[in-house]
Amino acid sequence: MKIAIGIMSGTSLDGVDVVVVKIKGTFTDSQIEVIDFKTFPINREMKARIKAQFLPATSDIKSLTSLNFEISQLYAKYVKTILRANNIEANDVSFVASHGQTIYHIPVKTTTEVASTLQLGDGSVLANILKINTISNFRTADIALGGQGAPLVPYADFCLFKSDKTNRIMLNIGGISNITYLKKGAKLDDVIAFDTGPGNMIINYFVEKLYQIPYDNQGLIARSGKIVEPLLKELLADSYLQQLPPKTTGRERYGDFYAEQLLNKYQNCPKEDLVATVTHFTAEAIKTGCKLVASDLTDFELIASGGGAHNLYLLEIIQKLMPELKVLTTADFKMDVDAKEAIAFTILGNETLRGKPSNVKSATGAREPVILGQISFVK
Ligand SMILES: Nc1ncnc2c1ncn2[C@@H]1O[C@H](COP(=O)(O)OP(=O)(O)O)[C@@H](O)[C@H]1O
Ligand SMILES: [Mg+2]
Repeated sequence: MKIAIGIMSGTSLDGVDVVVVKIKGTFTDSQIEVIDFKTFPINREMKARIKAQFLPATSDIKSLTSLNFEISQLYAKYVKTILRANNIEANDVSFVASHGQTIYHIPVKTTTEVASTLQLGDGSVLANILKINTISNFRTADIALGGQGAPLVPYADFCLFKSDKTNRIMLNIGGISNITYLKKGAKLDDVIAFDTGPGNMIINYFVEKLYQIPYDNQGLIARSGKIVEPLLKELLADSYLQQLPPKTTGRERYGDFYAEQLLNKYQNCPKEDLVATVTHFTAEAIKTGCKLVASDLTDFELIASGGGAHNLYLLEIIQKLMPELKVLTTADFKMDVDAKEAIAFTILGNETLRGKPSNVKSATGAREPVILGQISFVK
């Protein structure tokens, strides 16, 4: 077994997820044993600077350049901390797989831009501070071959969760929410996966503005409110929800600008009702996504992960909206809901080092299977 590290920091900017694993095998024979996992903070000042880069109007080239290094320096600090806590020497770590911080994602070309994506946190910087071979920039190879560069976690979902006996849908609720269909007995090429729409992104914006807190703990605020019907109706009219996959989305669509407009329009409604409504919308968007590919979901397990899996009220609504399936979380499979994506990147990094492709063509829309990422060797 090799020791590997996975680093993930998603669109929520809630922190940097670092996992240390033992990893063995490849593809569906991959075996993972988690040694330690921790979410480390991104301080307020850095978070604000990163957030400013998300919008063309507030981004600036000096900050982008500096952040590309600062993010790696921060990641390196956290990797050192977690290794020290576990008495592991850098020399004993086989590789680091780092997703990086997504700054901008253009999954489909526009009239002025080509399909492209930008994750900051340079791999060479990380590798050379840590003296550990590092794989980074996982998304670009897939886009180069006509894919959307996302979602990438479905490969790991397939390796770790596909079953010959049970139909499964893996649901990750981060800032954006995405699902991976794993019909029983499915082959990799049968896997369908896409972003269903917002996860915690709109909920977070609303509670931050209305209550000055970062998230609705366990969904307690939403639980105390009622649905504002015109707002829900307006949200459900969103054309993204019914769009057929492959499809991915992000802050470019559901970020502050989108949420701010809604909040301004409905600001006279009771605060808890607004939070209840956007929480219901997230659940409805997930339901629409689940039904998009299979109309009959009887005998399916829906296995939730990501920070949104702590929103118990959200999970309850999802279960109510789809009574025919069984809502579980990865914790039911002894996998920390917050660690899952970082673990997935250790699987992808492991394939890359072995020269094996790990995109899922049917999920990203790429023309070919490709070896993902860039390897920064330091030894
Ligand atoms: N106890 C909790 N109750 C409700 N929501 C939570 C809780 N803990 C985390 N979350 C939500 O999960 C988000 C982080 O999820 P995460 O999977 O890390 O997303 P990302 O991949 O976008 O970083 C937080 O911003 C918050 O909205
Ligand atoms: Mg996160």
